[in-house]
Amino acid sequence: MALNQINGGMSGQMAQEQAPETGPAPLDYTPEIARATAALYEKVAGVIPKFEWAAYAPTIHAINTLKKERGAVILGHSYMTPEIYHCVADYTGDSLMLARKAAEADADIIVQAGVHFMAETSKILCPDKTVLIPDTRAGCSLAESITGADVVKLKEKYPGVPVVTYVNTSAEVKAECDICCTSSNAVQVVESLNAPRVILLPDEFLAKNVATMTDVEIITWAGRCEVHEKFTVEDIEELRGANPGIEVLTHPECPPDVMAASDFAGSTSDMSNYVKQRQPKNVVLITECSMSDNVAVENPDVDFIRPCNLCPHMKRITLDNILHALQTMTHEVVIDPEIAARARIAVQRMIDLPAPAAAGPKFRTKQPAAHVTLVA
Ligand code: 13P
Ligand code: SF4
Repeated sequence: MALNQINGGMSGQMAQEQAPETGPAPLDYTPEIARATAALYEKVAGVIPKFEWAAYAPTIHAINTLKKERGAVILGHSYMTPEIYHCVADYTGDSLMLARKAAEADADIIVQAGVHFMAETSKILCPDKTVLIPDTRAGCSLAESITGADVVKLKEKYPGVPVVTYVNTSAEVKAECDICCTSSNAVQVVESLNAPRVILLPDEFLAKNVATMTDVEIITWAGRCEVHEKFTVEDIEELRGANPGIEVLTHPECPPDVMAASDFAGSTSDMSNYVKQRQPKNVVLITECSMSDNVAVENPDVDFIRPCNLCPHMKRITLDNILHALQTMTHEVVIDPEIAARARIAVQRMIDLPAPAAAGPKFRTKQPAAHVTLVA
């Protein structure tokens, strides 16, 4: 089983602008900090051992104090580690939820505890706010798989066919597309275009999974999430064999046969809502490692089996570099205004669609494979 491993690689483009490697001097875990952070520890005690808390608490306290002084909000993606997700983030959720929260945020400064395309999406939606990413190397294999020039060529090849881009792309790519989508609303977005054929890029597997849910003909691109592509049907069979009755929840960036072998599929927030509402006796989340820890905090009666694959890009974000970002106001996300204005049209069209219902599946599992046209 290819699970529980750190998947290598980093964004080549972003590696050039690395954040400093030397960490700050550790802060002291004083009795005052222990008291000030006691309620937070109670929340995460099930997933963070007491001895680790002494290392985290002073930085958590410093971040929460400084973010108030600066009037900043922290947006935390579901794949952040629990000390970030539950202890310093003001808003948490999947990439659609975070984009919506960025658009609504009543704050001049947004710190994105997530990867670079998420910070760019916040900046696209909030051009007048300062958006900070704590480590510029926090990339994404999907965002790296395609350029704006690739989309221009695709549009030449398929003139008049509307182009939907997954939010896991650069601002340049979004600027060339008609509308964005996330895993939470991809089927809804594709169908909203009322077109017989749609280009849905760059995730081959997401596109194939969407194709099982719609009659719209899908043309896609050979991009993949380096984390979710590693899960296999054999992994799921092993898990079911070792854990009778387990419910298998899968992210739609996984291969279609993995989706078909699961009990439920949806975005990170969809998986979290499923667990909250259904309270399965035991469950496995076929996705990035931190998800289970974060969802377990809110569902103490559910037994989580925790094989997973780490996203090395998400794991670039730490308490230390969030604090550093707030102290030094770095690294500010800057997008060419002309590109940002064009990208905003695509992101705003998505935001303007009705919010997807929190309950109810947007994907069905156990579906036969559906045809897509793959352009590489
Ligand atoms: P969500 O939209 O489900 O949060 O997914 C984003 C992502 O990067 C998953 O790998
Ligand atoms: Fe990109 Fe996959 Fe990491 Fe999400 S989990 S940020 S899609 S590499």
